[in-house]
Amino acid sequence: MGLDFVAIVLFLLPPYVANAAPVVFGGKFPVDMGATAWDGRRFLGDGKTWKGLIVGITSGVLVGYAEAFVTGNSMFAFLALLSSTGAMLGDMLGSFIKRRLDYERGRPSLLMDQLLFIIFAFILSYPVLESILPQVLVPESIVIILFATYVLHRIMNIIANKLGLKKVPW
Ligand code: CTP
Ligand code: MG
Repeated sequence: MGLDFVAIVLFLLPPYVANAAPVVFGGKFPVDMGATAWDGRRFLGDGKTWKGLIVGITSGVLVGYAEAFVTGNSMFAFLALLSSTGAMLGDMLGSFIKRRLDYERGRPSLLMDQLLFIIFAFILSYPVLESILPQVLVPESIVIILFATYVLHRIMNIIANKLGLKKVPW
C-alpha cells in the first residue's frame, strides 16, 4: 500500500492553517489596494487583505516549526513556508479569476475556493516533498488530498458560518 496518512497530514496541516487563519484574523487593507482591473472590476476584492496574507503565511510556518520540532527535521519549517505561501497565492489567484468572471465577493466556486489553494501549495512544495515526503507524491495520496481538502473545507466553512466568522457557509 503506497499510502502514508502521517505524511499526508504533515503536508496538509500548514496550508490548511494558512488558509483558515485569515478568516479569524482578517484585516482591512486590501492586497489590491482597491484598484480595478481593465474590465472595471476589482483585481482581487476586499476579501484579500494584507493582514490576512501575513497572518496566513505566519501561522502556516508556525505549524511547520512545530512539525520540525516533533519530527526532528528542520526541513518541515521550510516546507511549511512553501506550502503556506502557495496556499495564499492560490487563494488570491482564485479571487482574481472570480472577479474576472464577475463573481461578487464570497460567491462560491468549487475549483477557486476549495481546490486552487491546495493545488498551489502542492506545486510550490513539490521539490521539497520529493526529498522529505515522497509518499505524498503517489497518485493515491494526491486523490486523498484533493478529496479531503474539499470535504474539510466545506465542513470548516459551515462551522465558521455558524460561529459568525463568515457571512456565508462556504
Ligand atoms: N481573508 C483576508 N485576507 C486574505 C484571505 C482571506 O483577510 N488574504 C479573510 C477575509 O475576511 C475573507 C475571509 O478571510 O472574507 C474568507 O476568505 P475567502 O473565502 O477566501 O474570501 P471571500 O470573502 O470569499 O472572497 P472571494 O470571493 O474573493 O473568495
Ligand atoms: Mg470565499
